[in-house]
Amino acid sequence: MLEAQLPTDLADGAILREMTLHDIEAVHTAELALFPADAWPVEMFLAELTHPSRAYVVLELDGKIIGYAGAMSVADTADIQTIAVLPEYEGRGFGRAMLDFLHREVAARQAERVLLEVRADNPRAQDLYRRSGYEHIHTRPHYYRDGVDALIMQKRLKGTEND
Ligand SMILES: CC(C)(COP(=O)(O)OP(=O)(O)OC[C@H]1O[C@@H](n2cnc3c(N)ncnc32)[C@H](O)[C@@H]1OP(=O)(O)O)[C@@H](O)C(=O)NCCC(=O)NCCS
Repeated sequence: MLEAQLPTDLADGAILREMTLHDIEAVHTAELALFPADAWPVEMFLAELTHPSRAYVVLELDGKIIGYAGAMSVADTADIQTIAVLPEYEGRGFGRAMLDFLHREVAARQAERVLLEVRADNPRAQDLYRRSGYEHIHTRPHYYRDGVDALIMQKRLKGTEND
């Protein structure tokens, strides 16, 4: 169950709502297209959705799933597990809106900091995270299956829940 208020002012009348088991097939299809080297298997989404420490949302436009995102929150630390928008819907603020929502959600669950991993060759996502208050704190060399490094980024939430 989500704790924070979902946004209602998204571009093009898109709707952000909690992900359910019924969404997994569509989300997995998008996942294969968006992360060809590192796509999660269906079982991973199933395990994530059934875990109470997780919060997952989908972005829906005209009945179609065009984006999704999820976070894990344990004690004072949260992780952005995944975030994605289909390429034809990029640049309309959807990525930012999902990230902002997850920050509010994990803050409501008592997180004081949020961590995430991002591919070193994904400047677009890194920009979004920097502009959302994340700092690069560590690099994991050759973390991804194709040998690309992971940047570990952190955002402090305490007192800045609405950043
Ligand atoms: C990263 C991703 C989620 C961003 O989603 P999005 O909906 O395009 O993001 P937004 O429209 O909210 O834009 C985010 C920022 O990028 C900027 N931006 C928008 N369009 C842009 C473009 N064409 N080129 C560069 N920057 C752009 C915006 O100004 C915005 O910054 P701001 O919020 O400070 O104004 C999306 O590109 C994506 O799914 N990529 C593929 C999967 C991926 O890489 N996921 C992240 C894995 S760690």
